[in-house]
This record gives sequence, C-alpha cells and structure tokens, in this order.
Amino acid sequence: MPAISFQNVGKTFASPRGSVRALDDVSFDIEAGEFFGLLGPNGAGKTTLISILAGLARATSGHITVLGHDVVTAYADARRSLGIVPQELVFDPFFSVREALRIQSGYFGVRGNDAWIDELLVNLGLADKANANMRQLSGGMKRRVLVAQALVHRPPVIVLDEPTAGVDVELRQTLWQFVARLNKEGHTVLLTTHYLEEAEALCHRIAMLKQGRVVALDRTSALLAGTASTMLRFKLDKPLPAQLADRARVTGRIVQLKAHDAREVESILAVLHGAGCEPEDLEIGRADLEDVFIEIMQGETPARVAA
Ligand SMILES: Nc1ncnc2c1ncn2[C@@H]1O[C@H](COP(=O)(O)OP(=O)(O)O)[C@@H](O)[C@H]1O
Ligand SMILES: [Mg+2]
Repeated sequence: MPAISFQNVGKTFASPRGSVRALDDVSFDIEAGEFFGLLGPNGAGKTTLISILAGLARATSGHITVLGHDVVTAYADARRSLGIVPQELVFDPFFSVREALRIQSGYFGVRGNDAWIDELLVNLGLADKANANMRQLSGGMKRRVLVAQALVHRPPVIVLDEPTAGVDVELRQTLWQFVARLNKEGHTVLLTTHYLEEAEALCHRIAMLKQGRVVALDRTSALLAGTASTMLRFKLDKPLPAQLADRARVTGRIVQLKAHDAREVESILAVLHGAGCEPEDLEIGRADLEDVFIEIMQGETPARVAA
C-alpha cells in the first residue's frame, strides 16, 4: 500500500477575475519509506496539493489517500498518519514551547508524551527554549517548533512544505540530520523545497509541478542522467557575445552554458575567444538538479514521467 496516493487531483479556485486552475489531474503514488521531493516554481500548486492532503482544502476532483485512508471520508485516520510542517508560520503566542507540544499531543490523543517531547526538543536544538513563550522566539526558532509539533504524535508520513525557506544554515543541517534519521527508521517523507541541492542530496524520487501539472516524475538519479548534458561554468567581466547570450544562464558574473558534446564545448570557447572574452575559473561538469529543473520548466524537453 502506498504511503500517499494522489489520484487525478484537480483544484480550481474561483476568484473575481476568473478561475485559477491550481491543480490539473495530478496522479502519483509515494511508497512507504520513500524520501520524496515535490518541486516546482512559485504558484505551481505544491502548497495547494499539501493543503488538500492535510484536509485543509477540498479537491475539486479526484482523491487522495494516506496509508489507504481517504483524506475526506476517513479524515481522522488520514490526519493521524500525517505530520505536516506548514509553509506559513502559524503559532499561538500565549503558550510556551513545551505547552504547545503537549497541547498538540492531546489533540492527537497521545498522553504521557514527555519523553518523546524532550527528544524532539533536543534533536531540534530547542532544549533551552522549552519554557520560552512562543512570541519570544525568532522566526528560525518558531520554525523548529512547527517541526516538533508536526512530529509530536510520531506520524508515519512526514510532510514538509518549504521548511528551510529563509532559515539559517545551522537549522537546515539540524533539520536534515533529524529528518534523514526518521526516514532511515521507516518514516515516509514528502518535501517541497526551493533549494534544489537539498532535494538532490535527500530525495530518492522527485516530481516536478508546473502550472498544476506533473511535468517530470522519476528517480533523482534518472532525472540527472536524463539530461546527459555538459555544463560550462565560468566568470566573465564583459557582456556575452549575442550568439551565446540567449542560451546562457547568467548570475552576476557567473555564466552557465549547456553543451551536448565536446565539439559544442569547443565551439562555445571559440565564439568567446573570437569576441575577445577571457573566461575565468572555467569549469566543465555534469548538469545538476537545478539545470534539469530549469530545462524542464522552460519546456525544452518533453515531460519526463516514468511509469
Ligand atoms: N486560497 C486561494 N484562492 C485563490 N487562489 C489560490 C489560493 N491558494 C492558492 N491559489 C493559487 O493557486 C496557485 C497555486 O498556488 P500554491 O499552491 O500556493 O503554489 P506553490 O505552493 O507551488 O507556490 C497559484 O496560482 C495561487 O495564486
Ligand atoms: Mg507553496
């Protein structure tokens, strides 16, 4: 039985300026024990899909099950199977960290949970904040509490919606160490993130959403191998010659260009040389997940969806 099954999920939001098709016939399964990445640009529909999964929004069409429980008709069982870390920072300012975690335990009917609460506090670097009031915490610390709240009832399926957006390196490392450990212990993880190097390092399989549709779904290694492209990376102080400019990714002084084979590498270098450009710190390497993501989002390649 899959941990999560998305079956033909559609969602249309009505708005005064017409309707928005946020999800369009989304279907895929996440197997038990997987570390699964859901990627896509802003507005692709990731949070909408997670809101429907969590029972916070209703799908316009289709079904979602969690460990076989339909999120609408068996809401309580589905919700109990899930630990959800929301994208938005939501918290009750009147409680201390420990109180917030005890209340959340009570919500799921879990009693005598202090040993696990202490373990969460230690593993998420919150031990010295246990008695602090929620409103006294920094944004990063509130984010840690949200993670602890999601895990307080030891859910078999953990869902993290952009958990590292705007958080410091230390929290990212703490979080990934802990979530990777939970995954090794058998928890299924569904993660959305903008940090593609995190997804590349952590996720066994990845789905990419674009305008509410799944445009790629495969093992991370297969997605990376699928491009079979070479990337040229270098620094340049001058504008790129026009014939290269429209196919390059430029970030400040850093230029990245895709080449299909060694001959194309040579011809790019020849164009640069001919235009009097001196590339600095030239590197030639394999495409990474960010390259794959950009290629798929630009629609240069047909959708790559493995069976
Ligand atoms: N409550 C809502 N009402 C109207 N439109 C919404 C609502 N929530 C999301 N949308 C729209 O649905 C689309 C998907 O949004 P979202 O799921 O937040 O994307 P993502 O999480 O991938 O950035 C966007 O076009 C967004 O504007
Ligand atoms: Mg979102």
